[in-house]
Amino acid sequence: MAQIAPPFPLPAPLTNARLLIVGGVYVDVLNEVTSYPLEDSACRALSSIRRRGGNAGNSAVVLARLLRAHADDCTVSWVGVVPSRANADSAFALAEFASDSVDTSLLEEIGGDGVGQPTSFIVLARDTGSRTIVSTRNNCRELSVEHFRAALARAAEQLSGAAAAPFGEPRWCHLECREMPSVREMAHAFRANPLPAGASVLSLEVEKPHMVPAELLPVFALCDAIFLSREFLERNQAAIVEAAPPAEPRLGGADELEAHAAVRCLRALLAQTPGCRALWIVGWGAHGAFALDSARGTVLFQPSFPPAAVVDSVGAGDTFIGAAIYALACGAGPEEALRCACAVAGAKVGRAGFKGLH
Ligand code: FRU
Repeated sequence: MAQIAPPFPLPAPLTNARLLIVGGVYVDVLNEVTSYPLEDSACRALSSIRRRGGNAGNSAVVLARLLRAHADDCTVSWVGVVPSRANADSAFALAEFASDSVDTSLLEEIGGDGVGQPTSFIVLARDTGSRTIVSTRNNCRELSVEHFRAALARAAEQLSGAAAAPFGEPRWCHLECREMPSVREMAHAFRANPLPAGASVLSLEVEKPHMVPAELLPVFALCDAIFLSREFLERNQAAIVEAAPPAEPRLGGADELEAHAAVRCLRALLAQTPGCRALWIVGWGAHGAFALDSARGTVLFQPSFPPAAVVDSVGAGDTFIGAAIYALACGAGPEEALRCACAVAGAKVGRAGFKGLH
């Protein structure tokens, strides 16, 4: 399969680095149909496949694939929960991680009766390219803050201990915002960890529209990179903008970008997060992506790289994040990172699954 090189030379390959991607892993059951079925009808799938999924899981795999192709000595560690390593569905997901070189040594097994592997049942409509997801946690709770703290301590120990595995220096921690207040506590725990100052980058994904912006502000203040979903911004736009209305832009030229709902929300969020130096990024689906670079106060827009045909959009946003982290970790600036993220996400949508993305 053709290699998808980033559309530019990245400044420097990473070496001896460990990147922690924290969040969910699911088993995805994908049924592809000609067109989305009518309610209360029956239809036959064109294909049915099972694969490992989950936002953090997908981002970790994309990041690991890109690093393997373009960087040295790096480890991507997924940190999250499974009912148990022995659970057949969890074992399936973990074996897929292993085949993509994602380390799972820091996971939490939660055990207990009646707890199963989180699973998503997905209908992929071939005519529109839509993906409709029904997922269940199967009674599996989220990662505990205590376990996350222990995982950070282990990652630090594994740097130097006699049993040092070749994992590299923990340099990046990405948190999928699944549950509050635990994500806030994890962000604080990462900031308080004993790693060398400046060597640790914290990023956060907020995808779920029901997250409350005001509760997230203290977490945003701790982050270096913040990925917000279009759904989250669209659902919360009124509250976000009302809390800190940005200046009314004049129409035309650069102000057209300022007038976009995504940019108005980003400016308003930044105004509510004093001292924030983060790079804020929002994927806007087939349109492209926006970013606000707090350090420079500039906004950016990158059009998407649409594939010849939409084959599989499941995990496109997660791919976008994995590729952005890859570029930023290799020292790319905001423009380059946004371009890399859009290019790799576009390539993903044009193929089934994540194989061949490197
Ligand atoms: C796609 C995805 C799927 C997973 C679902 C979980 O973004 O991560 O792989 O099953 O979302 O919400």
